[in-house]
Amino acid sequence: MPRASLLVCASAIFKAACALAAPVTQPVVELHVDGAHPGPTIDRDIFGQFAEHLGNGVYGGIWVGKDSKIPNVRGIRSDVVAALRDLHVPNVRWPGGCFADEYHWRDGIGAAANRKTTVNANWGNALETNSFGTDEYMDFLSQIGSEAYISVNVGSGTVAEAAAWMAYMTADAATSAGKERAANGHPAPYRVKFLGIGNESWGCGGAMTPDYYVSQLKLYARYVRNYNASQTGERAMRRVAVGADGSKTDYVEAVMEAWHGRVWSWDLEGLSLHSYTSAGWPPTHPSTHFGVGEYTLLLKDALRMESLIAQHSRIMDQYDPQKKIPLVVDEWGAWLTPLPGSNPGFLVQQNSLRDAILAALNLDIFARHADRVRMANIAQMVNVLQAMIMTDHERMVLTPTYYVFRMYAPFQDATLIPVRFDAGSQDIGGLPRVDAIAARDVQGKIWLAAVNLDPQRPARIHASFTGTAARRAHGQVLTAGQVDSIDTFESPHVVQPISIDGVADASGILLELPAKSVAVLRVEP
Ligand code: AHR
Repeated sequence: MPRASLLVCASAIFKAACALAAPVTQPVVELHVDGAHPGPTIDRDIFGQFAEHLGNGVYGGIWVGKDSKIPNVRGIRSDVVAALRDLHVPNVRWPGGCFADEYHWRDGIGAAANRKTTVNANWGNALETNSFGTDEYMDFLSQIGSEAYISVNVGSGTVAEAAAWMAYMTADAATSAGKERAANGHPAPYRVKFLGIGNESWGCGGAMTPDYYVSQLKLYARYVRNYNASQTGERAMRRVAVGADGSKTDYVEAVMEAWHGRVWSWDLEGLSLHSYTSAGWPPTHPSTHFGVGEYTLLLKDALRMESLIAQHSRIMDQYDPQKKIPLVVDEWGAWLTPLPGSNPGFLVQQNSLRDAILAALNLDIFARHADRVRMANIAQMVNVLQAMIMTDHERMVLTPTYYVFRMYAPFQDATLIPVRFDAGSQDIGGLPRVDAIAARDVQGKIWLAAVNLDPQRPARIHASFTGTAARRAHGQVLTAGQVDSIDTFESPHVVQPISIDGVADASGILLELPAKSVAVLRVEP
């Protein structure tokens, strides 16, 4: 029987459309999944998130205050916490972003009534009440089950201020810093897994030359000490330096060269890369009401992440062939024009099926570079840029990107399995037809993620496996009617994952992916 006649569509609702839209002559994409030659671990930290004091990212999105009518635990909204728990968010970068280089941590601790009100000059000159500060952030992390990634103020702060902040968070309760923390309700030291030393120090973080930044970096890396006694050895805090602005390499060269020639008193455990998908700067592309042309343009731009990582990895390899220093893509995602009527300083955009596909493509790229990319943070978590969740007072809606992160959760700390395939190229715009990754999770189960980038036609995929049996595959697929389909407060279930099955043949698994879709399946032996 010809392979095409064996194909099944994702679910009953797609069957009719598939039958009409998929001519039998459409070539099958062959995936060769090489379970016999496992790759590196896909670090769970590549699924990290970013929550900046920006618009309603924190205020309204996470923090509603203890007296709010919106259900909350100690001021942190419970619906958002419940949704985030399902993502197993590994780390949350905070408090910025550009905000971090003007943040003074003392403004945000202690009795609410005594906290300073300041101006958030980076983001719409909004009033910053500082009601969400260090202790609230740590409470939020413990509620969602995540780790701290603190970005300290290098631009307008001092080494002493950052060192005192780290002491407040991590020193024993017998110290003065620890006593102050205890007086604010938390005697036990907090755990700070990651320390970001500045943010975009080449731009909003002080427009520093690479050499000037490196001289600051050495001081912060030395003196901003983590005193938490449980954070030693493998669990020691990891310091992340500012690195590339997109394809610019000056910081990468300077930091890696300095690290290579380092003396005993300082070290690093990460180098950042910031790269947004906007197809030009400043952003001019809308997040709603776009067609296949815009879809293609943005996805092509997203795929640049591959060459950016390769470019920076090559430089890092020269100084660090053993790949000790991870590349940390701690700001990525779609940056589109603000929604009409929103405060342009609040970076509010919609989140469409196209953005979900964009997220999956980025996660696939990070996974394929798992030997060097060991951490990433999508910008941002709630209500800002490519958000997981949007809120409006008491209402909350999960975005298409949220579902991709939930579907990809099994890849956290899984072992990459190489997948060979010829992605081909679409007639429209030259985008690849498909993308795919595979991994073995910590329990030994095999997972396959596959993206059909074609906006109009289903993709037929045949996956053959070496080194592992594959007799069935079952999972979820995310798609919708249009490339710009969105979930809204009024219609929250337009872009929703539904179940999908693959069918076994003599040599593997057959799968038909609907047009413009992302699927994650568990492959059963
Ligand atoms: O994520 C929004 C902003 O983008 C961040 O504050 C900054 O670091 C970057 O330029």
